[in-house]
Amino acid sequence: MFREWLAGPAVEVRRLIYPIFVRPSAGPPQSIPHMEGVQRLSVPDAVSHAGEAYHAGVPAVLLFGLARRKNAEGSEAWDPKGAVPQAIRRIKRQWPGLAVATDVCLCAYTDHGHCGLLAGSRVDNDATLERLGRVARVHADAGADLVGPSAMMDHQVAAVRRALDAGGHADTGILAYAAKFASAFYGPFRDAADSAPAFGDRRGYQLDVRDGRGADRAIALAVEEGADIVMVKPALPALDIINRARWRHRVPVAAYQVSGEYAMIRATAAAGAFDERAAVEESLASIRRAGADVIVTYFALQMARWAQSGSR
Ligand code: PBG
Repeated sequence: MFREWLAGPAVEVRRLIYPIFVRPSAGPPQSIPHMEGVQRLSVPDAVSHAGEAYHAGVPAVLLFGLARRKNAEGSEAWDPKGAVPQAIRRIKRQWPGLAVATDVCLCAYTDHGHCGLLAGSRVDNDATLERLGRVARVHADAGADLVGPSAMMDHQVAAVRRALDAGGHADTGILAYAAKFASAFYGPFRDAADSAPAFGDRRGYQLDVRDGRGADRAIALAVEEGADIVMVKPALPALDIINRARWRHRVPVAAYQVSGEYAMIRATAAAGAFDERAAVEESLASIRRAGADVIVTYFALQMARWAQSGSR
């Protein structure tokens, strides 16, 4: 009798953010290994897919771009004619009510696959900051509501805030990938965005999974530098960090249920080991219970459709 009355927050579709992969080339949707149900879309298809999600009740999308031509600097990332700026302009024209967030990183655009510019075999933090500022500004110029610096460079939030303000975009918010662990769970994404590092790994700039205090510090720094929302990633493996951020700071907390978490649930459900909808709802409710205000999930559209189809 008291179960419903005393239950904690459930996950509502209005709290979800739906990631979409946009590519510069035309042609039919391309499937992504281990991420059945998620595809790389041409600009027009990405725009109509975003509209489909919006009409199903999803309030926000997070755009990831692919490159036509990669180079050492990843300069296509700040090309105003790139796939992401084009998609932003068209989505905001057709569905101004849909919030558009973007991923601000270089890894899908550099020929070496690292998230920043290289100096020798190391990432040059400060040179990269300037480029991240350019990317953010191009996205804001196109109409993005939120930009999400995800390269994990030191002081990326301050650099992006400065670039946005200088470009007349004081109203554009920052969804900071504040605590981003160097995680095996990003595996399928690297195929999706074609962004696997050509050598080495991302441990030089992403957080060590064992280092909870380092994650707390990264979040505190992002808040200090002006993040409007702080994001923790991956989600289920980092519920402790989500919870501490929830209680320590006065900014909203986002959690990213990443590609490997999606793949894990899809594959296990497909093998018949558990019910997909129950597992998705449980994982999202747990992330919410830990303290996330909003959740980035590849299941967002599916959740909206389940919600539309009525109670289970
Ligand atoms: C870009 C970026 C990554 C993800 C989001 N932004 C990949 C990475 O850091 O290697 C991962 C998202 C996912 O796995 O779904 N740096």
